[in-house]
Order: sequence, then structure tokens, then C-alpha cells
Amino acid sequence: MAETLFEELKRYVGFEPEDEQALRSLHGLAQPHFAAIAEVFYARILEHEGASKALEGESQVGHLKVTLRTWMEQLLRGPWNEDYFHLRCRIGRIHVRISLPQHYMFGAMNVLRQEFLRIIDLESGGSPAELRAMRRALGKILDLELAIMLHTYREDLLAQQARSERLSTFGQLVGSIGHELRNPLGVIETSLYILKGRPLASDERASKHLERIGEQINLANRIVTDLLDMIRDRPLKREPMRLEEVWKDALTSVQAPGGVSIREEGLAALPTLEGDPGQMRQVFVNLLENAVQAVGEVGTVTLSATQGSKEVELVLEDSGPGVCEAIQSRLFEPLMTTKARGIGLGLPLVKRILERHGGSIIYVSREGRGACFIMKLPLGSASKGMA
Ligand code: HEM
Repeated sequence: MAETLFEELKRYVGFEPEDEQALRSLHGLAQPHFAAIAEVFYARILEHEGASKALEGESQVGHLKVTLRTWMEQLLRGPWNEDYFHLRCRIGRIHVRISLPQHYMFGAMNVLRQEFLRIIDLESGGSPAELRAMRRALGKILDLELAIMLHTYREDLLAQQARSERLSTFGQLVGSIGHELRNPLGVIETSLYILKGRPLASDERASKHLERIGEQINLANRIVTDLLDMIRDRPLKREPMRLEEVWKDALTSVQAPGGVSIREEGLAALPTLEGDPGQMRQVFVNLLENAVQAVGEVGTVTLSATQGSKEVELVLEDSGPGVCEAIQSRLFEPLMTTKARGIGLGLPLVKRILERHGGSIIYVSREGRGACFIMKLPLGSASKGMA
């Protein structure tokens, strides 16, 4: 059987059965200190603004202290097999997902190294040869850990490269196809208009089909507009913007089954913002269409608005199944879609429009509950990309 990456790495650093033995002995020494090591580890993260940004709060630190202790158990007890490797890759991917800068990974691993070495130095019981073997084995396993973490970052980088190549080809293609489609669509639209004025239109079935053709032309035009908007930013207007009005206007474009209730709270109390009401309407329409589709025949879609000191926060929740974890991190990427219809431009456009208003949008995962998007828009004048 071909050698696995982990086997190759172990062979590279010369990780032998005697290292495994030395790590198990180190486990005996270090285990009583695991809780203290975890304290030092996370205290150091919290002292550094860039690293602590990756944490979501004190409760997460509590949880991580526990997971770090399990990590130390496995580090020193093994077995250092393929399951170990895959478990470590999983942790690496979590760090990639939270965008942990790589230099903190090295810094943090060094903190762990110092703590373990300190424990070995304090030990008076073992022979110098045993202690030396522990230091050597510790060096090997911690560097293997770093190698695995770097491996997951590289995986992510390659995936990103593939994605950006796909997008640049996509951009060029879209530009030309979009323009080319506008012309035939325009001709079909004009011909439809002429046909609607003819006696044919009084035939009930024919008129139904003419209606249907019209709807499909609108749909095709909308897709072309979305595509073109994605590759060239439409200039933003700078106008007084009442989100309550924008929301009401957006609702007129969204068709929801009778069992779906769409509610909002707090919009009337918001101050007038500055921005492009037309493009913000698009934000609401795209989000509402997704939410209504996710909810199905019966459910709720709720927008709650609150005003902070510098920004307005809008939370859109629905009672659908939520977005699965595998998709969440790529939700705002173009061409990312799970639907049979649609090409995955709705959310990227939403994000782009909000960012050009100086705002933001994130997806918040809520175990066992529907989708939840949190949008922020600045209270001051929206400036980025304004016409
Ligand atoms: C290099 C040494 C590090 C080790 C050994 C380590 C270990 C771990 C482990 C075992 C987990 C839990 C994975 C799971 O849930 O299965 C984890 C998650 C996490 N780590 Fe690290 N970590 C390291 C560095 C850092 C640093 C420097 C930060 C900076 C803030 C950090 C932030 C986090 C966060 C936020 C999560 C949780 C993500 C989530 O559950 O959503 N880690 N790490």
C-alpha cells in the first residue's frame, strides 16, 4: 500500500517507537499540569488582540480549555495513527475556517512547547537519557502537529486558487454572454408586445402562454442583470433612504405561499439613512426570496431592526431548515448554490451591495433552527463606491 502523508511525515522527522514510549512517559509527568497549561495557552491568546479576535467570547474560551486538554491527552498518549492524523486535520480546518492567522499557530505551539519543556526541566526523577528522549520526542510530535496544520492551510489555499481561477474565467464569459443575450431577449420582448395586440391574444390559452413567455423573459432579464451586476459594480446613488419603505417596496416583488407569514419589527423607528434605495431593495428581495423558498408552505420570516450608536442592525430569520455547515463558509461566493433553479448570485450580490454601503452581512448558525442573517449598515453617510 502507498505510504500516507502522515507516514511520510513521521519518516521524515524520524518518529520511532521509542519516541512513542517517551511521549507516554511524558504524559505521566505532564497530565497533572494540563489544566494549568490550558490557562497559560488561552491567557496568551487573550493578551494579543489579533489572536483574541478569532475567539467569540468567554464561553468559547471555557469550551476550548476543555478541548485543549483532550488534545494534550491524545498528543502524549497516541495512538499516532491515521485516525490521529484525520482528527488533527479537522482541527486545522477549524482554524482555517475561523481565519486564524498562521503566525499565531506557530506562536501558540511555541507556548505549549515551553510549558512541556518546563515540566521536563522540573522533573528530578527520570534519568538524563530518559528526559532527553522526552524532549526529542516532544520536538518531533509538536512539529508534526504544525506540519499537519500547515497542510490544512495549503489545502484551503489550493481550493481558493481554484475558485478564483474559476471566477475570473466566469467573469469574462459572463460579460460577453450577458451582452449577447440582451439583444435576442429584447427582440422576443418586442415581438411579444406586438403579438399581445393581435386577435390571437383573445384566445384564452394563447393569452396564457403569452403571459408565461413574458414572465420567463423577465426572469431571463433578471439573471442577465444579476450576472452583469456581479462583474461591474453599478454606481451607488446617495439618497435619503427609509428602510421601512424599501422593505415594503421589496415585499411587493416577493411571492409567498398563504401559510408563510413575513413580519418586521423596528423598521419604523430607524432614522433615515443615506444610500441607494434601489440596490437595498435588491438586498431585501434576494434575502426574502431565499427565506420564502427555505420555509416552504408554512412558516415565518422575520426581520428585526435595532439602532446602535454607530450603525443599524438588521436580523433576518426564517423558520426553514437553516444552511448546512458544509455550505456556510462559502455562502456568499458566486456560483455557490444548492437550489435546482438559480445560479448562485443572490447572496454574493447582497454582500457586495451592503459592503459598498459601508455595511456587512454574516450568517449565524443556530443549532436546529432556521437561517439567520445579521446585516449592519452605518448610521453616518454611506461612502464607499457612491456615485
Ligand atoms: C497551535 C496550537 C493550537 C492548538 C493545539 C489548538 C487546538 C484546538 C482544538 C483541539 C480545537 C477544537 C476542535 C474541535 O472542536 O474539534 C480548537 C478550536 C479552536 N481554536 Fe485552536 N488551537 C491552537 C491555536 C489556536 C489559536 C492561536 C487560536 C486563536 C484564537 C485558536 C482558536 C480556536 C477557536 C476559536 C476554535 C473553535 C472554533 C469553533 O469551535 O468554532 N486556536 N483549537
